[in-house]
Order: sequence, then C-alpha cells, then structure tokens
Amino acid sequence: MSETPFKNAHPSPYGSGDPYYSESTGFLTSTRQRKSASSWIKFGVPVLIVVVVAAVVGGVVGSRHHSSTAGTQSTKASASSVASAKNAIGIYPTGTNSQYMMPLYPSTTNSAAFASPTFIDQSNSVTTWPTDSFQPSNPSPTSVRTDRPRLIAPAYKWAALPNLIKNDIYMSSWNDTIFGNATDWYSEPVVQYFMDGDSGILDNSRQMKERVKAFSYVYRLTNDTKWVDRVWSELQNAAGNGTQPFGPNNNTRWNPAHFLDTAEMTAAYAIAYDWLYDQWLPDQKSSIIFTMLEYGMGPGVTALTDDPLYWGWWKNNTQGNWNCVCNNGLTMGALAILGDDTSGTAEQLLGLTVPNANANCVDAVTSDGTWTETANYWYFGTTGHAEMAASLMSAAGSDFGLLTTNANFSMTGMFHMYVTSPGTLFDWGDHGPNKYSTTANAMLFYADQYTKPQYMLFQRDQHDVAEPWAMFWYNPEVAGAFWDGMPLDHFFDDGLDQWASMRSSFTDETALAVAVKAGKLQGHQTHNDLDAGDFIIDAMGHRWAGELGSGDYRSMGYFSSDDQDSQRWLYYRKRTEGQNTILVGAQNQDVTAAPTVQHGSTGESQGSSTVYTVPSGSTAYWVADLTSAYFNVTSFKRGVRLLNDRKQVLIQDEINASASVMWRMHTNATVATSGTTATLTLGDQTMQISLLNAPAGASFTTMDAERLATDPAPPEPDQPNPGVTVLTIQLDAGQYTLEVLFNPQWSGMAASDFVTPPSVPLDSWSLTSHN
Ligand SMILES: *[C@@H]1O[C@H](CO)[C@@H](O)[C@H](O)[C@H]1NC(C)=O
Ligand SMILES: *[C@@H]1O[C@H](CO)[C@@H](O)[C@H](O)[C@H]1NC(C)=O
Ligand SMILES: *[C@@H]1O[C@H](CO)[C@@H](O)[C@H](O)[C@H]1NC(C)=O
Ligand SMILES: *[C@@H]1O[C@H](CO)[C@@H](O)[C@H](O)[C@H]1NC(C)=O
Ligand SMILES: *[C@@H]1O[C@H](CO)[C@@H](O)[C@H](O)[C@H]1NC(C)=O
Ligand SMILES: *[C@@H]1O[C@H](CO)[C@@H](O)[C@H](O)[C@H]1NC(C)=O
Ligand SMILES: *[C@@H]1O[C@H](CO)[C@@H](O)[C@H](O)[C@H]1NC(C)=O
Ligand SMILES: *[C@@H]1O[C@H](CO)[C@@H](O)[C@H](O)[C@H]1NC(C)=O
Ligand SMILES: *[C@@H]1O[C@H](CO)[C@@H](O)[C@H](O)[C@H]1NC(C)=O
Ligand SMILES: *[C@@H]1O[C@H](CO)[C@@H](O)[C@H](O)[C@H]1NC(C)=O
Repeated sequence: MSETPFKNAHPSPYGSGDPYYSESTGFLTSTRQRKSASSWIKFGVPVLIVVVVAAVVGGVVGSRHHSSTAGTQSTKASASSVASAKNAIGIYPTGTNSQYMMPLYPSTTNSAAFASPTFIDQSNSVTTWPTDSFQPSNPSPTSVRTDRPRLIAPAYKWAALPNLIKNDIYMSSWNDTIFGNATDWYSEPVVQYFMDGDSGILDNSRQMKERVKAFSYVYRLTNDTKWVDRVWSELQNAAGNGTQPFGPNNNTRWNPAHFLDTAEMTAAYAIAYDWLYDQWLPDQKSSIIFTMLEYGMGPGVTALTDDPLYWGWWKNNTQGNWNCVCNNGLTMGALAILGDDTSGTAEQLLGLTVPNANANCVDAVTSDGTWTETANYWYFGTTGHAEMAASLMSAAGSDFGLLTTNANFSMTGMFHMYVTSPGTLFDWGDHGPNKYSTTANAMLFYADQYTKPQYMLFQRDQHDVAEPWAMFWYNPEVAGAFWDGMPLDHFFDDGLDQWASMRSSFTDETALAVAVKAGKLQGHQTHNDLDAGDFIIDAMGHRWAGELGSGDYRSMGYFSSDDQDSQRWLYYRKRTEGQNTILVGAQNQDVTAAPTVQHGSTGESQGSSTVYTVPSGSTAYWVADLTSAYFNVTSFKRGVRLLNDRKQVLIQDEINASASVMWRMHTNATVATSGTTATLTLGDQTMQISLLNAPAGASFTTMDAERLATDPAPPEPDQPNPGVTVLTIQLDAGQYTLEVLFNPQWSGMAASDFVTPPSVPLDSWSLTSHN
C-alpha cells in the first residue's frame, strides 16, 4: 500500500467520480460517486481503531502460525476463535481506493479471523436473526403472512434489528450510512420528472425506490412520522398529484412503453405501502392502491397478457435484466396490496409473474454463472431477481422456484467475484444506466440462500453495500475471509460467454490480473461489443489495457439489432477496432462467431493471509480459436498466459489472414514506442511491452482511439475517448505469430528477474510448456 492505487491513474476529464454513464446521454455522470471522498473518511475512521486491534491480534496469531508459508495454507480455527477474532477485527478494509471504490485490505496475517468462509451458528438472540414463525406447509404466492411488512423485512426482523446493529460493526456502519443518506435526501426536492428519451423515466423510478427505502427504514427505526410525510410527498409527486406534472401524459404516467420504469416505480410504491402500512390513513391507502393499479399493475396485466404488445416484449426474453426487473416490480406491487386490492389484479399478476420469471429471468444466468448481458448489467438483473425471490419468501413463504429452476443460478455470485479485478470490473460491453437503487447486494441474499458465505464476505466490504436490503439480507453469523480458499483462476466455459479470470491475489490492490473473453457475439440483449479476444490487464494498482464502455444509448441505431449489418456496429466503441483484439481487413468481426477455448491452471487458492505470494511455478493460460469470428482468416488462435509466478503476461496470436492484420490495445497510459518495444506509464508506474521474435516489418505504433478513416460513418457522431491511446502492430495480409510480452515494472524487481519465455506454439501450451 505504498503507492496510490488506481488513484488518478488517468485524470478523468469528467472529474473524480466513478464512470457511470447516463442511459440517455452516454456521458459520464457522477452524482452519487462524487461523495466518495467523504465516504472514505467516514469509513476509514472507525476502522483505524479496528486495524490497530487487528494488527495486535494478527501479530499474536500470526507469529504462532507464521512458519508455514503465509497464505498458501488455511489454518483451521475453531468456531469460537473465529467468532472472537472476527469481532476483534470488525470491518476488514481500511478504506476504498478513490477511483473505483474498491476495498483496500490491510497487509496482515490473522489466520483466526481470515479463515475459510463459514456461517457460525451463534444461537444467540442479540447476534442472530430469529427464525420466522411464518412457515406455510403448502405455500402459494397468493397466500401471504398476516402481519406487516410482507416485503423482504417482516416485523420479526425489524424487532431484532436494533440489537444486531449494536452487536455487528458492519450493520452498525451501514445503518449510519442509511441514516446519513436519508437525511441528505430529506431536504432535497421531490424526484423531478425527467423524460430521458428512449430511456424514459427509469432514473426517476430508481431514485424514488432508493429514497422510499431509506425514508421508510429510518421511520421504522425512529418512529418519527416526518419520514412518513416525506414518503407521502414523493408518492404524491409521482402520481401527478404534487405541485408539478409527472409523466409523459396522464394515462401512461409511469411510461409503460419502457416497462422497466413502470416496474421500478411500482416496486417503490409497494415498499412505501407495505413498510409504512400502519401509518397510512384509509384514504391514503386507497389512493396508493388506485395509483399503483392505474399506472403500474394495470399496464402490467396488459404487458403480460396481450400478444403481441410492445409493452410486454420482455415477457419472452431470457437474455437479461428486463424480465427480472419487470416481473419483480409487478410481484412486489401485487404482494403489497394483495387482500386490500378489490380488483383482483394482484392475484392475477402473481399468477403471471411467478411462472414467467421462472421461464425467463432465471435463464439470464448461463451454465457457468455468467450473466448473459454484461458484467454491469448483472447488477440490474440480480437486483430484480433477488428482490422478487426475497419478497415471495417473506410474504408467501417460498421462492417458488426462482432460486432453483436454473440449477446453475447459484454460481452467479462467483461470476461477480471473478469479474471484479483489483481495479474494477472486466467491464466489457455496455455499462447500463445509472444504478441508484441497484447494487450488488443480491450477493448477501444469495450467500444465505445458497450457503455461499464467500459471497457475503465479499459484498460486505464493497462501497455500494449500505442500503436497507443489506440490513435484512446480511447474516451476522458469517465469518472468515472470502479469499481464503478462493482459487486464483476461473474459466467460464459456456459457449455463449467463454472467458477467463486469472490473478495473483484477491486482497492486494496492486496485484496482477488478466481477464480475456471469446464467446458468441449475439444473444446478449445487444449490449455486447464485437470483441472476441478482448482482454484487460491490471497490475501495480493501475489498469493498463481497458474498456471504452457504453456509447450514447440514444444514438440512432445503437440498439437496432445484433445482425452483421446493424447500425450499432458502426459506432467505434462497439466495433472490433474499439476492442483489445486483432482487427483483420479493417472489418468488424463476424457476428456468427462460435469460438472454442482450452485452458489450464496450476490451481492455487489464496490462503487466509491478505499477504499472499504465489508458489514457484504457479501459472494459468487460456487459448481461444477465434477463426470463426473473422472474415478473410484461415486460422486464428489467441493465447494468454501468466509467466514468472504471475508477474508477467504473454499474449500470443497465431493468425493466417488474407487481409491486413492489426493488433490493438486501448490504454489510458502515456505510451512511448521504439520498434518492437513500448513503454507505458500511469502515475509513477511503468509497464514494458515487447514483441518477441517479431515478424519482419512488425513494430509498435500508436493511434488515436477513433474510427479508421476507411470506416463507414455511423448515423451520429462517436463519443470522444480523451486520454486513450491505441497501441498497435500493423501488418499486411499473411501468416504471423505475434508474441507480446507484458513486463510490469514491479518495485524491487531487477531487470534480470524478468523471464523471456520460449516460443511455444499455442497447440503445445501446457502448464509446464514455458518452464
Ligand atoms: C450515502 O452516504 C455515503 C456517505 O456516508 C456516500 O458515500 C454515499 O455515496 C451515499 N449514497 C448515496 C446513494 O448517495
Ligand atoms: C442507526 O444510525 C443512527 C444514525 O447514526 C443512530 O442514531 C441510531 O442509533 C442507529 N441505530 C441503532 C439501532 O444503533
Ligand atoms: C417505535 O415503535 C415501536 C412500536 O410501538 C416500538 O416497538 C419501538 O420501540 C419504537 N422505536 C423507537 C426507536 O422508539
Ligand atoms: C394531466 O391532467 C392535468 C390535470 O388534470 C392537466 O392539467 C394536464 O394538462 C394533463 N397533462 C397531460 C399531458 O395531458
Ligand atoms: C392522485 O389523484 C388522483 C385524482 O384525484 C387520485 O385518484 C389518486 O388516488 C391520487 N394518488 C395519490 C397517490 O395520491
Ligand atoms: C419465445 O421466443 C423464442 C425465440 O426468441 C421463440 O422460439 C418462442 O416460441 C417464444 N415463445 C413464446 C411463448 O412466445
Ligand atoms: C449446470 O447445471 C447442470 C444441471 O444441474 C449441470 O449438469 C451442469 O454441470 C452445471 N454446470 C456447471 C458449469 O456446473
Ligand atoms: C481509462 O480510465 C477510465 C476511468 O477513469 C476507465 O473507465 C476506462 O476504462 C479506462 N480506459 C482504458 C482504455 O483503460
Ligand atoms: C494461409 O491461408 C492461405 C489462404 O488464405 C492458404 O493458402 C495458406 O496455405 C495458409 N497458410 C498456412 C501455412 O496454412
Ligand atoms: C474480406 O471478406 C469480405 C467478406 O467476405 C469481403 O467482402 C472482402 O472483400 C474481403 N477483404 C479482403 C481484403 O480480402
């Protein structure tokens, strides 16, 4: 932690906030992330004390076990010592890095607390959730518990919550943050209606949901009715009964043409109705129900029953977040008003949404846990899925198959962990709209449901954890460290989304991490890029090869289709040349690509310590046959491997092409090239890249990150990519082997410590082929 990791790696032209794109403009917005500095401080202060304790405990325990190579072995600790060490340490990270808000872990050995992920049965009423007495023997979605709330947080959980908060430092810190956020929003004007082009009022709906959750939470913990009044103002405003108009018109106020907006607003109303149920007067209740039926659930019935209908296009779609978000909003709405709604709509909807989500939403996770859209769209889909399953479980006593219909769904938490690199996500394809009420907290819920404590341990340290769902999905019996026993590498092999995640550590923000993908180029809800072979590299606290992110969602043709001739593929950020892969004949990849992959790993897992050094000989590699992704190519394989005990990276391409060949990589680094070497600089760190055994005429050059002059023009301008340089190798048609070696200049590593690998054909790669 001697350097400033990921901090100002590239001075963003947009300021210091996280790069979250506006669905409408495609430009970076930083409304929420701006407050990151204060969060760091707020987060950091209580932890300081804790870290001192940790250091002491770590020192004692560490010295006892230190003789074994720290981290390569997980020391077994008894449940009681894990529990006490866990309490002594408290919050693990010492803060977050400022650019991507990733947690920073202290360098310490504490094999008592940092043990294998587990749930410790505490059988103690002040540190454990009580058992729900509502256990229907024959559950039905329309047969709900008699007490309120019904949604996610039943009364017994609210009753237990204050003690849990007092006894768990994570819950206590989240509670403080939620109170702080609610207090900030209290004095802001109600959510201002804004029709954001094709993206509709989705931001409005998610902001409403975020606020309603926080206000209702604070009310229930304080009994101060000012929070109920504040929720009422929001409900009035979004019903068009406030001091300003709301919605595109008085009939389609929640914009069912973009049904996500309708669904998320319905969910917001559902939480308000249900969590504040005892506070609403009878006429308020009937107003809320009227409004939900009129603008949310009535259109929901239409969407799910009329055929064909634009409002409900998502009802037969297994490729992503829409089906989960839409069914969830309608389900939460129906569960909230069931019994009070005399129209029969709630019952009708529950008969439609539950089977529909089981036939569609759950299949947005592929056989290996990957989300079919992109790493960022995982957040939207899993939030909808988890809210729907959790609401059905709390209200009606069962998930009705949502957690198990797809036998592979449980792996999606692992997908999220592996797609998160030391810097940020391997953020291929589109990044999606503003998140607001969307977080990765489905990880907490899945951890408990699938008994995967590592999901919970991972998410509890993340910057987006502090919101009301965390208070009910977190299980304070969780203990251990997510990284203990976590294999360094994972290969995702579903034909739709083959990709690899390889790294040197889970707890060192300066670790080496490489991720690379192949997979199909269709079937991702048109959120992907033409990017077979695309990779990212993180090392020394910086991202050296990275992604450009979303284009402008409102650009003409951006979502037209994923056919070869789609206008989407005219936009630079979506084109093959906008990716870190090879471009042949200056042409986009073939959308019918069906690559095949092979791979290997020496299979190490990190141990308990946050300080981890891989054993000698540790490596991993991944090779994809990408021939089918190209026109004018007879054969093309790309291989990526870790060298020198995961301190160096080799990317090897074997290609035979009848059109020009251009190797491309996008970087925020300052680049200096000299023949077959390139020197990249980010902050005070350096990456040396060299082309080994270079074919005649091959050398590095740089280009701007923009369309080639020969490209057809897109219907609307591309977004600029300021600060991004493309490192290239440009060759005529021919047959080549390109061996590009990445040598991060790690501190303390001498020139003689780097290896120059032998030249080994990709078909002969094995775990030992480069020893
Ligand atoms: C909530 O407050 C924390 C600071 O305590 C801040 O970092 C975070 O961004 C806020 N969350 C939202 C959603 O505004
Ligand atoms: C939750 O946080 C608020 C604000 O910091 C605090 O006043 C309250 O006591 C906390 N609740 C519990 C149960 O500790
Ligand atoms: C709020 O009211 C409930 C129900 O009357 C009560 O159980 C709870 O202790 C009260 N909470 C506070 C903080 O006053
Ligand atoms: C909606 O109704 C209000 C009052 O009933 C009216 O003033 C307003 O013009 C209507 N808005 C639209 C877009 O029709
Ligand atoms: C908004 O006003 C309309 C018309 O008076 C009424 O039917 C509806 O219930 C109101 N909705 C809310 C949430 O107050
Ligand atoms: C759903 O869509 C698929 C193709 O996208 C189609 O084959 C199938 O028949 C559709 N099912 C229904 C019920 O419409
Ligand atoms: C996905 O689930 C199926 C059905 O249980 C199983 O056969 C398959 O092995 C699973 N895939 C993986 C990668 O575990
Ligand atoms: C450049 O940095 C930004 C963050 O400031 C990041 O979002 C982007 O992916 C990086 N681009 C590349 C090509 O690494
Ligand atoms: C490379 O591809 C061309 C066709 O484009 C073919 O004639 C040639 O034999 C191939 N070379 C090798 C070594 O396979
Ligand atoms: C490459 O392939 C495309 C499509 O098959 C063809 O139209 C084009 O002329 C080819 N280009 C070259 C340089 O061979």
